[in-house]
Amino acid sequence: MTTPSSGRGAWGSRLGFVLAAAGSAIGLGNVWRFPTMAGKSGGAAFVLIYLLCVLFIGLPVLLAELTVGRRTQKNPVGAFERLAPETGWRWVGALGVLTGVVILSYYSVVAGWTIGYIVETLSGTFNNIQSPDAVTRAFTGLIGNPVVALALHALFMALTMFVVLGGVQGGIERWTKILMPVLFLILILLVIRSVTLDGAEKGLSFYLKPDFSQVTGTTFLNAMGQAFFSLSLGMGAMITYGSYLSRRDDLVSSAVWVSLADTLIAVLAGFAIFPALFTIPGLEPTEGAGLVFLVLPNIFDKIPGGLFFGAGFFLLLAIAALTSSISLLEVVVAYFIDEKGWTRRRAVIVLGSVAFLLGVPSALGNGAVAALSRLPVVNQSFLDFMDMLFGNFSLTIGALLLSLFVGWRWGTGRALEEIRLSNPETWFGRLWALLIRFLCPLAIGAILVNLILETI
Ligand code: PFF
Repeated sequence: MTTPSSGRGAWGSRLGFVLAAAGSAIGLGNVWRFPTMAGKSGGAAFVLIYLLCVLFIGLPVLLAELTVGRRTQKNPVGAFERLAPETGWRWVGALGVLTGVVILSYYSVVAGWTIGYIVETLSGTFNNIQSPDAVTRAFTGLIGNPVVALALHALFMALTMFVVLGGVQGGIERWTKILMPVLFLILILLVIRSVTLDGAEKGLSFYLKPDFSQVTGTTFLNAMGQAFFSLSLGMGAMITYGSYLSRRDDLVSSAVWVSLADTLIAVLAGFAIFPALFTIPGLEPTEGAGLVFLVLPNIFDKIPGGLFFGAGFFLLLAIAALTSSISLLEVVVAYFIDEKGWTRRRAVIVLGSVAFLLGVPSALGNGAVAALSRLPVVNQSFLDFMDMLFGNFSLTIGALLLSLFVGWRWGTGRALEEIRLSNPETWFGRLWALLIRFLCPLAIGAILVNLILETI
């Protein structure tokens, strides 16, 4: 058992922490965003680049964030301030706090669609689907109805606020323990049905046979941004979660387990989506944010007891989203509690409301309000645009600055000292130091520079 070192809360057990961190990592990013990005970015080549990014960049950055968090026992801004007092580094933490609010704002909108789908499935909308158009009509009807979209967004945000009000142990830890394994099992069922559909080969080859001719600078940014998004990195969520750890909790194996579980769920989601996708006339992998919502009901309809599994799946996905959204809000709340002296209650109410309001244009930009559904110049919906700016760019820049900070400013020597408190000297630590000092900043920097060169 860990003991709270400063009265600001701590995890009940190490398993509780690993599950909570995995709960933060596993969410819409795996089941919704990963297939959407893979579909948009050409399939297998993207998947391969993604896996390399997770292993060589994501995992080291995850360990770095946990280490900074455990060392300082602070929120991201306070953590930078503690390790590099009165320098500009605290702004990296501030960027993370801002990014947290914005990602939460649209994350809650998509999570709201998931809740809507529980109801749609139970009410039989997806029973005996005659043509896939029926699913499209139901989906566009749901997300394009301003009242429904806003109500679902409000409901999900309220749930997030409710859990974060309960604090670290009471709220966050309890939820994740039982529910994630069940989500995993239903996902396996979906994969089995999807890969055994007539015509599944086409989707399997899209997902597994890389075609590098389509790879561009954007593919790399999307893959890396997705790795950060999926592992909850680049904005200090894992600094915040690490800050509730005690010196005895094993950092290295926590980081490895979280990355493994997260990647497994994403890869499985791809196996569920792509084989089925290619058997549905009129649907393309480049569909965008609606992809999984348009594909999944078609699979459930072909499974005995599909109504039950379908509703169960969307319920669990909503819960997986909740264990992630609470980590988004917790970063922001921890900052206002630690640095501004707010009470938890006040921080949750004020910041949850801000995130809700920021999410309103994302909720309305899917058919309800035309101007928000396709923004001028960037040619995408408000939600997609926010996701590109904050989900991709901001997290990537945050991760770049964090690896520079740990590698060069705070120093890998001091970071390793912290890591050794729970993990004795290993080859892994030394390899990690090299990756965080050299490979991470160089690779992230190269991808950003390449993208800039490509766009100008
Ligand atoms: N990792 C979450 C997901 O994959 O759904 C989303 C997320 C949570 C991103 C927390 C960033 C974060 F700090």
